[in-house]
Formats: sequence, C-alpha cells, structure tokens
Amino acid sequence: MRRLRAWKQIWLGRFFSCVSLKFTMANTILVGAQWGDEGKGKIIDVLTERADIVVRTQGGNNAGHTVLIGKQKYVLHLVPSGILRRGKKCVIGNGVVIDPPALVEEIEGLKRLGVRVDGNLFISETAHIVLPYHRLLDEQREARKGKNKIGTTKRGIGPAYADKAARTGLRMIDLVDAGRFAELLRDRIRENNEVLKAFGAKALSFAKVHAIYREAGDKLRRFVTNTVVMLNEAVRRGKDILFEGAQGTFLDIDHGTYPFVTSSNTTAGGACTGSGVPPNRMHKVIGVMKAYTTRVGEGPFPTESVEIGDMLHALGREFGATTGRPRRCGWFDSVVTRQAVMINGIDELAVTNLDGLDTLERIKVCVGYRHGSKLYAHVPNDGRVLKECQPVYEEFQGWQCPTNKARSWQDLPVRARRYLEAIAELSGSRLSIVSVGPDREETIFL
Ligand code: IMP
Repeated sequence: MRRLRAWKQIWLGRFFSCVSLKFTMANTILVGAQWGDEGKGKIIDVLTERADIVVRTQGGNNAGHTVLIGKQKYVLHLVPSGILRRGKKCVIGNGVVIDPPALVEEIEGLKRLGVRVDGNLFISETAHIVLPYHRLLDEQREARKGKNKIGTTKRGIGPAYADKAARTGLRMIDLVDAGRFAELLRDRIRENNEVLKAFGAKALSFAKVHAIYREAGDKLRRFVTNTVVMLNEAVRRGKDILFEGAQGTFLDIDHGTYPFVTSSNTTAGGACTGSGVPPNRMHKVIGVMKAYTTRVGEGPFPTESVEIGDMLHALGREFGATTGRPRRCGWFDSVVTRQAVMINGIDELAVTNLDGLDTLERIKVCVGYRHGSKLYAHVPNDGRVLKECQPVYEEFQGWQCPTNKARSWQDLPVRARRYLEAIAELSGSRLSIVSVGPDREETIFL
C-alpha cells in the first residue's frame, strides 16, 4: 500500500511538472534554411546563453561550425558549439554519425584551448560510427562518378548512414565494449575489403583499424550514455534545450536537391528522430539564412552569380570551414527560403552575413523561377528542370556603408532595413535576429 502511494506521488509529480512545463520550457530547433553554411554556429553560440542543454542531432564531421570569441576562432565539427559556454551540457545525439578518432582530436583540441569538456559532454550510445572503409568508399564512389560527382566532404558520411539503414552499422555502444567491437569489426572489415577490392582500392588491415578505434573508444567511454533518457528527463524537469542543426534544408536526404544532398534529415523533424525527444515537446523552430546564398559541392543553384562570388571571395569570405573549398555564391533566393519555412515550420528567422552586402550598389533577390513558359513559386523536384530554371529577380538599392557597428534595428541604414524586411516577408516568417559580423557582439535582436 505504502509502495503504491509512493508511485502515485512520483507519477502525480511528473504529471504536474509536465503541465507547468508548458509555460516555462522553450525547446528550440535551429535549422539552416539554405544549403548549409548559413552561419548557424554563431547563432547557436548566441542562443546557448539562454539554453541549459545543446544537442546535435544529425550529420557528422562533414559539418563545420565556426565561432569567434574575442580573437579566438573555434571550428567545431562534432561537438555542439554550446561547449564554449561554461556549464552548458552538450549532447551528441543518436542521429549523428561519429568518427571516433576525429572526435577525440576535436575534444583534445578544445581542451588545449582551455574549454572544459569533461562533465559537460554526453554521447549517445546508439549513435553510429564512421569507419575507415566508409571514408574510402566515399572517395571511390565520388571518383567513379566523375563529372557527376556530388562533391562530398569525403568524410564517409553517406556510406556510414547507408550501413545504418542496411543494419550493418556499428554504434558507440559497440565501440566501448572491447570484445563485441573486435568481433563485429572483423566481420565488417572482411566484407568491406571485398567491396574495396572491386573498386581497385587497397584492403584495410583489421589490426591497424582495431588499434586506432580501440584507443579512441577508451578515450570516449566516459562520455557515452543513454542520451534519450537523459534528454527526456531534462524535458520533464523543464530545462531549455537547443537542438542545433547541421547542414541546411536543401541538403536534406528527403527534401533537398537529391542526389546533391547529404545523407541525413537536416530539417526540423531530424531533431526529434536524432535525439529521441518527441515533436510535442518542441516549442519553436528558428531558421538561419544568409542575406545572400552559398553552396559547397555540386548540384543546382539557380541564383549562382560570379559577380557576387568574386566580390565575397576578394573580401576573404566564403571559404568552407571543413574543407577550405571556396563556396559557390549567389543572390538571395526566396523560393528556397519560403520552402524551408514551409518544411521546417520556421517560426522565426535569423539573417546572417548582412555585412557581406555592404559595398553593393544594387542587390538582387530571386522571387520566382521561370522554366520555359512555366513560372515556379516552389523548388521543382526534377533536378534537370531546376538546373534550367531562370531566376526572376527584384532589385533593391544597396546601403553602401558598413553595418558591423550596428547593435540595434535603428542603427541599421534604412535601405538595409528595407532589404531585411523584404526577404523576411518573401520567406514568409518573422525576422528575430540579424547578424552583422562573426563576433558574439555583432548581433541584433529584434
Ligand atoms: P557529405 O555530407 O560529405 O556526403 O556531402 C554531401 C553534400 O553536402 C556535398 O555537397 C557537401 O558539400 C555538402 N555538405 C556536407 N556538409 C556540409 C556543411 O556542413 N555545410 C555545407 N555543405 C555541406
């Protein structure tokens, strides 16, 4: 009887804390609204100040989030950028694919810079791991595609997710169990060596891979846990959680410009499946977009412009954080951002890199696509059609003065404000943050 009463109390406590959560909790999903590299790292860093926990839910070390704090530049690939704020808990969720030696290197690099990782980082035991054969297969498949290549980061992301879907992947829970890992790895290397040989590539040595991964596994073991239970417990306790997206909406495996996409769900739904936190516990979706558009790798890009690309590269901007590749650049495309608002349910927009447009006399914004006699207000699914689409532009007058000193909406030149209002309206969502430079301070909240 006493036991029953105790259980009743626990469950009633849970019930009432859930009811009150409605009013206190703000779990926010942050996504990229274009083709990645929207400047999410900086916005995540700024928002982390108000969050208790930051979670990465998809992708792998193909991502590169750059954060500038004072004069120190941090580039994070797997560890959530929340780690840069003292005392924030950071989670690498089950939807991420982890390259263990690369993660160890990243953690050690952060420690060398004085960042506290122990006690603040938690890694899902069900996150899949990237193995050397994934990287080799990524390279081989790209080489074989020739001019039709995707332009991947060659980090083995696609093959790792393919193994996950084929149910032949290895997970963190396997890596930290010495006996099981050796057995599974031996079998996987044997099979993948056959595939590598068929490509004409060198076979892998089990002993070498095993030694490197076991060492990484030993170093990561203390971070590995059941993050699904941990996160849902945090939700129950009313903690504020920020779900940081990697890549962008049009690199999503389902909703992107397939096959020129990455292999995970980069859209808002990926935050739920990649963390185990259910959709009805999410409160807000923020979409991050640049004041213009960029893309790395191959694939259709209707508003691509050499003019804006040359201008930005000459300023030393728009080089990839992971591969150093110059990014392809183009005018702002509201067809793309409008669709991103629709797919992700974006409630608020954060516009970054406004200062990149400071010198221009005239600025173009794409408001629709023309393909022959047909007009498109959405992104056509047929890649061949999208490739041939001609953007329909509206022109805006540039403000031609620096914006990086602006700290409030009123500080911005009137023409910059008009431009921002127009791109938010065309995208169909509310503007809430404007970033005018890489530093934390160079941010305007509306
Ligand atoms: P993968 O993710 O390495 O397989 O690459 C697939 C495509 O996604 C390529 O076009 C990459 O350039 C692109 N991509 C992957 N990660 C990022 C990112 O973090 N930012 C921008 N593009 C990315």
